[in-house]
Amino acid sequence: MSASLIAGLRAALPSATIWDASDLATRDPGFDARNFGASALVRPRDVEGVAALMRFCAERGVSLVAQGGRTGLAGGAATSQGQIICDLGGLAQIEEIDPFARVAIVQAGLTLGALQEAAAAHGLDPGIDLAARGSATIGGMVSTNAGGIMAFRNGTMRHRVLGLEAVLPDGRVFSDLTRVLKTSAGYDLKHLFIGAEGTLGVVTRVAVRLDPVAGASATALVGVPDAASAQRIVRHFLGSTSARLTAAEILWRNFASLMQRALGYAPGQLPLDAPCLLVLGLGADSIEAARAALEDGLAAIWEEAGIMDGLVASSEAQAAQMWRLREETEHIERAHPIAPSFDVSVPCGALDAYVARIEAGLKRIDAAYAPYVYGHLADGNLHISINCPGPLAHDRHAAIEDVLYEGLREAGGSFSAEHGVGLEKRDAYERHADPVKRDLAKAIKEMIDPGHVMNPGKVVG
Ligand code: LAC
Ligand code: ZN
Repeated sequence: MSASLIAGLRAALPSATIWDASDLATRDPGFDARNFGASALVRPRDVEGVAALMRFCAERGVSLVAQGGRTGLAGGAATSQGQIICDLGGLAQIEEIDPFARVAIVQAGLTLGALQEAAAAHGLDPGIDLAARGSATIGGMVSTNAGGIMAFRNGTMRHRVLGLEAVLPDGRVFSDLTRVLKTSAGYDLKHLFIGAEGTLGVVTRVAVRLDPVAGASATALVGVPDAASAQRIVRHFLGSTSARLTAAEILWRNFASLMQRALGYAPGQLPLDAPCLLVLGLGADSIEAARAALEDGLAAIWEEAGIMDGLVASSEAQAAQMWRLREETEHIERAHPIAPSFDVSVPCGALDAYVARIEAGLKRIDAAYAPYVYGHLADGNLHISINCPGPLAHDRHAAIEDVLYEGLREAGGSFSAEHGVGLEKRDAYERHADPVKRDLAKAIKEMIDPGHVMNPGKVVG
């Protein structure tokens, strides 16, 4: 990009922070090295600044890629030369928390962690949680329809958003900051921007639902023979009226072993020797009540579920150890740089058969393949990483996807559960998404962004 364009940006957005390509080269691009491939990054300070940037790009036919925490896992925020990044870090305020109505109005660049903390001061919670809470932003989570640990209880981001504001490619502002649950006033267009990964506009403000939080929560690690057993445990706790299940994360042995080695946990330190491990979180009025409910619940279902081993954390430190085993997934990338990874939703009753089928199918492609499988048991969202470095050649990647996605749509699952389509799932989207859906999506993209300014090449192409 020419120096004159950078100068033009500075003139059009005098109060914005602007980095050129040489500045970007010295900064941390986040989870994806391609995030900072652009020619410039602009960080507007307000919605008007985002609109001015959008008009600047539209007039010159320069493409614009919105970025939040840069923790996305599908390449949705990847950029290339000639593109401009709209960094939402300058719009990171909590504008309002109404504890009575249980709603927060926040700017898109606010991190999930910051909202969780502010809501907790009122005994409330945004009802959504994920490992990247410290960096993932509300705008990014809206744009990818993030799910995470508590989706089985509270829904995905789509179900937490009451209203939103977004800047359109022509600089107009779509403003729907509804803060009530019920609105049946024609097409609910906010949903177009949820999961659009910045291809239709830039989300700038969000009205988020808040829910009361339990006073304390306890954690357990349970060894089980399979996912069906883990699901029996989950069903048992979901039926409990005295405590609230807040997490049910499953780790298959291959993943758990890698994590145990990477974290340096001694054999016997935690109950780890089982085909599947389940990390359970339970909320109650006090930590004692939560621990007791976990212990009693596990004892009650022990035989019926075929539980092999289990431990209720007796301290915060022990609970943190259990959670590190589940959440520090960067150890996969350390062992296998750019490991090919996938994110599917499998209908709950079909998990064990699915895992057995893909393990066999992957071995047919390469006898050395032994996937790391883990994820959000209670809603059937599995994360699958292959034990090899990436990126793979196109044909090999497609062969793996065919194994992983075969029959998923027909069974009512999804080839992309919570990380989005971005660049990584573009090919899969073309091959596995419903053709009529793809047609409609293209028509909507054409209507809202006819100049293909917004995040071109992502999601719909
Ligand atoms: C997780 C991310 C990968 O659940 O979605 O850890
Ligand atoms: Zn996840």
